[in-house]
Amino acid sequence: MKVPTPAELLNSDKAQVLKDSIQFWNPEKTQNWQNQGVDLVIGRREGYYLYDMSGHRLIDLHLNGGTFNLGHRNPEVIATLKSALDCFDIGNHHFPAIGRAAFAKALVESAPKGMKYAMLGSGGGEAIDIALKCARNSTKRKKIVSVVRAYHGHTGLALSTANERYAKPFLSEGAPDEFVKVPFNDLAAMEAALKGSDAACVIMETIPATYGFVMPAEGYLPGVKKLCEKYGTLYIADEVQTGLMRCGELWGISTYGVTPDIIVTSKGLSGGIYPISAVITTQAAGRWVEEDGWGHISTFGGSELGCVVGLKTLEITLREETKKNVKFIADYLRAGLDRIRAQHPAFKGIRQRGVIFGLEFDHPEGAKYVMRALYPRGIWAIYSQLDPRVLQFKPGLLCDKALCDDILARMEEGIAAAMKTLPKA
Ligand SMILES: Cc1ncc(COP(=O)(O)O)c(C=O)c1O
Repeated sequence: MKVPTPAELLNSDKAQVLKDSIQFWNPEKTQNWQNQGVDLVIGRREGYYLYDMSGHRLIDLHLNGGTFNLGHRNPEVIATLKSALDCFDIGNHHFPAIGRAAFAKALVESAPKGMKYAMLGSGGGEAIDIALKCARNSTKRKKIVSVVRAYHGHTGLALSTANERYAKPFLSEGAPDEFVKVPFNDLAAMEAALKGSDAACVIMETIPATYGFVMPAEGYLPGVKKLCEKYGTLYIADEVQTGLMRCGELWGISTYGVTPDIIVTSKGLSGGIYPISAVITTQAAGRWVEEDGWGHISTFGGSELGCVVGLKTLEITLREETKKNVKFIADYLRAGLDRIRAQHPAFKGIRQRGVIFGLEFDHPEGAKYVMRALYPRGIWAIYSQLDPRVLQFKPGLLCDKALCDDILARMEEGIAAAMKTLPKA
């Protein structure tokens, strides 16, 4: 077999890549994007820019949900991985390890007070499954309460907690009394689900991303935490998209004054370079690691290369200058988006927490129109899968003013063009 070099791969023929994707990889997904007018196969990538194989440049405002918080191929993260490759590999998951000990310590020390352990996985779904297993083990209860239209990943338990659109094709909806779903922002429904004192946990994205970044109502998240305490249920904060400074603090849940029992993080923890995820728990929630260390086994979970990269990513994310920059971007882009919104009545609302934005349009599929208009104008931002009225707008933590100005100019033009084609709702 002749193996092409990475440079040769990057220069391959786009039409052939699409053909092979249809033939050997995922025909429906490949064709679906083509049908939506997004003819993207990512070639070069650098900072907050992506380049289609044709050369078309896009500013990345999707970031894979925060995976590329620090930009694509962040030079500091790459340098760290390169030097780690001189002495580490994936490591052996059965033994204590230098990288894992250092990374777990850093995660616990940067978490809210009261956290004790950091368990490590390889991706978000696996980490969610670990968190749910922690809750069941700790409470000896089976019931898991989640939010209607939540998204926690496609692995075993995670899939059953989420929207049935993803669970149904794989017959993974789970037993209805085991996987209970309640509407977001409804404390009465939450209490009804918990009051039997039989729920192991409530699992919630701090701001449900795939549902279009619906903002938690004033007092809702603290209210859920209080109910959890009342009924002996653990609170799992899925911070896969809202963590790592995207809400203006390291953990989005802290900005709502809630200390959960378990925090789940992934995506951005990888620095966009090496897969890693973590579940940070209190002692009570993570008790199984004291009783049976083999309770969760994963060959690649907490790989040492991932830990070294994760440590660097955490350090960059926690810098005071990063936090200051997030505040700047959040305010600056908000002011610009408000100006654009004032010109278009169908641009109905802006949902925001830090650099997490959901732009709401007055049509059931409004954000699809906007996404299509932005694409040729050099912006990659995607509609919310579970509410296509809302465009996810997710700038990176390290964007500078010039890039923000460029983003706003392109958004202004793209939204104006989309509004001309948007049918009346
Ligand atoms: C909020 C949230 N939780 C969990 C996951 C699952 O992460 P992964 O795709 O790494 O399994 C995702 C992925 O998009 C997510 O957005």
